[in-house]
Amino acid sequence: MRIVKSVAAMQRLAKRWQNQKVRVGFVPTMGYLHAGHLSLVREARRVVGPRGVVVVSIYVNPTQFGPKEDLSRYPRDFARDKMLCRKEGADVIFAPEDREMYPPNHGGAFSTYVVEEALSRGMEGASRPTHFRGVTTVVAKLFNIVLPEVAVFGAKDFQQAAVIRRMVRDLNFPVKIVVAATHREPDGLAMSSRNKYLSPVEREQATVLSQALRMAKQSVKRKGVSAVKLKAQIKQFIGSRPAARLDYIELFDPQTLQPVTKAGRGTRMALAVYLGKTRLIDNAVL
Ligand code: PAJ
Repeated sequence: MRIVKSVAAMQRLAKRWQNQKVRVGFVPTMGYLHAGHLSLVREARRVVGPRGVVVVSIYVNPTQFGPKEDLSRYPRDFARDKMLCRKEGADVIFAPEDREMYPPNHGGAFSTYVVEEALSRGMEGASRPTHFRGVTTVVAKLFNIVLPEVAVFGAKDFQQAAVIRRMVRDLNFPVKIVVAATHREPDGLAMSSRNKYLSPVEREQATVLSQALRMAKQSVKRKGVSAVKLKAQIKQFIGSRPAARLDYIELFDPQTLQPVTKAGRGTRMALAVYLGKTRLIDNAVL
């Protein structure tokens, strides 16, 4: 397994693969890898086959964090990430420094952004106004650097995957987007690098997210239900956990991400909940 730190070296490697018709699978991450990330690496390998190459990027992208968010304390453990990627059979880790990705005053400061203007407005976009601009910008840059045929994203960040798909379609990136299922702890909590922030009590109560999703699934099982009623029911449930504070809950069409008034089979539900200072998200099809 190779570790590549410079953009120029990564791009040279990618161009060589392209000339040699080597299939490239790509898994962009911010590191502090867990089993959810590793399932994406396996999926990338499955798609490109044993003769293809799998690139994992590890980069905590500053432009997707708001000014009051956790950029400076975002967990990092490169040695462990390296070991996990090697064990999973990744071929290359691309781990650029900030000065490589956003060169400071390299003939003027960084000033070009990619903005998706429809799917990124609600939910995460409403709670974190500049978040998706940072995500689409860095993913566009990474696609131009790694030149993948296939890129794998997690359903855990459903809106992110939808926004990236739209960006790829609108800007004609020659990249196939694959979305892999959410990996969970045995008690249902979706795996996340941010779970590390949780105190024991918060960790215990963090199961509210997956339980709320299960509750909503039960409610729509027999027939469609009013979104207003379902949301109220779930708000009340989350309110019963003292460590939990609801940020948003949305019931939406999985294609358009538009809120629905009546939730039924196929409706998707997403929610964001604070446990203490830690903000967790989850989503599922009902
Ligand atoms: P990060 O949060 O590190 O996640 C990297 C990828 O892993 C994303 O596609 C995410 O959806 C997926 N993932 C996270 N938890 C998962 C789980 N429990 N099961 C399955 N997949 C999971 O998402 C980002 O980084 C960044 O926004 C990035 C796309 C790298 C751009 O900076």
